[in-house]
Amino acid sequence: MVQGTSTFPITRVKNSRRESVDFDNLPFGTVWSDHMFVADYADGAWSRGKIQPYGPIEIHPSAKALQYAVSGFEGFKAHRIPTGECAVFRPDMNRNRLNRTAQRLMMPEVPEELFFDAMRELLEVDKDWLPDADQGALYIRPSYFGITPTLTVAPGDAFRLVIMTCPVGGYFSDDISLTITQEYVRAFPGGTGSNKLAGNYAPTMLASALAQKQGYHNVVWLDGVERRYIEECGVMNVFFVIDGTVVTPPLEGTILPGVNRDSAIQLLADLGIPCEERRVSVDELREAAAAGILEEMFGCGTAAAIAPVGRLGLEDEDITLELRSDSVANRLKAELFGIQTGTIEDRHGWLMRL
Ligand SMILES: Cc1ncc(COP(=O)(O)O)c(C=O)c1O
Repeated sequence: MVQGTSTFPITRVKNSRRESVDFDNLPFGTVWSDHMFVADYADGAWSRGKIQPYGPIEIHPSAKALQYAVSGFEGFKAHRIPTGECAVFRPDMNRNRLNRTAQRLMMPEVPEELFFDAMRELLEVDKDWLPDADQGALYIRPSYFGITPTLTVAPGDAFRLVIMTCPVGGYFSDDISLTITQEYVRAFPGGTGSNKLAGNYAPTMLASALAQKQGYHNVVWLDGVERRYIEECGVMNVFFVIDGTVVTPPLEGTILPGVNRDSAIQLLADLGIPCEERRVSVDELREAAAAGILEEMFGCGTAAAIAPVGRLGLEDEDITLELRSDSVANRLKAELFGIQTGTIEDRHGWLMRL
């Protein structure tokens, strides 16, 4: 994109809703910025795409997305850095993951130029929606789905990419409590756990609701075959600190390859903290807790960044984890937040500055 010109036609809102939003108390994912980007793929080609007011879109009730969940999405954040610029955190990783999801769903690839031009121009149009670093971040949600209105179980030939954004609050939240679910699984070998399909999420809601009914925030997912090994927690990747070493389950096809997981592994190496990617069983956790060497557990993902776990429910007991201010989770969180908000050097070239 040439500075000052726009690749896409823009229809602006008549009245911005920006002033009615309390940026010091932003919720997650309920307040949408004024505009969104929409592009369709049909007859073998992408339309030019357009930026228009955020709002309802027309879709046939028989669309593949609604009937058969031919739908994938992404989620990542932009922060305000000290120069006042907007810095998007590793969007290339999300664009690549969106295309791996598209491939799994037999949807056409989203071209690099389309993805990045759309993102840049949408963020430019809604630049007033970027919170200050201490208020939070702008969450970016590309959603990509099949719109062919026929009932055959096939991907169809028409697709829509919508990119929307919402300002979200800071992630310095309290610790969370989780419980292992033996009854439900999120993923299994040969399934779609490593892709970001919309259809991966609907079946998890019952398990989460049951956990909440028991007083936990969410569940810990076990592997779908033996139901012994920890895979993820809620909608986050999971890390443990066992006897001074950080451990996280390996990417073997059932775990979502989180951008924050990847970043955390790199930052741990930078900080000189040993980290292993290996399987962790429930039995190992139980034994480590009994031996007093289960030092930490935390979730890791875009929404919460690093979420320390204070209580872990196993079948017959709750493990309470000490929350120290000098924990690995806190050190990691500070490092990640510092890089994202431009107060720590972006030594890995992770920020796309706009
Ligand atoms: C199931 C699941 N695992 C892990 C993650 C973390 O991925 P990321 O760090 O890319 O946000 C997410 C999404 O945020 C997720 O939905």
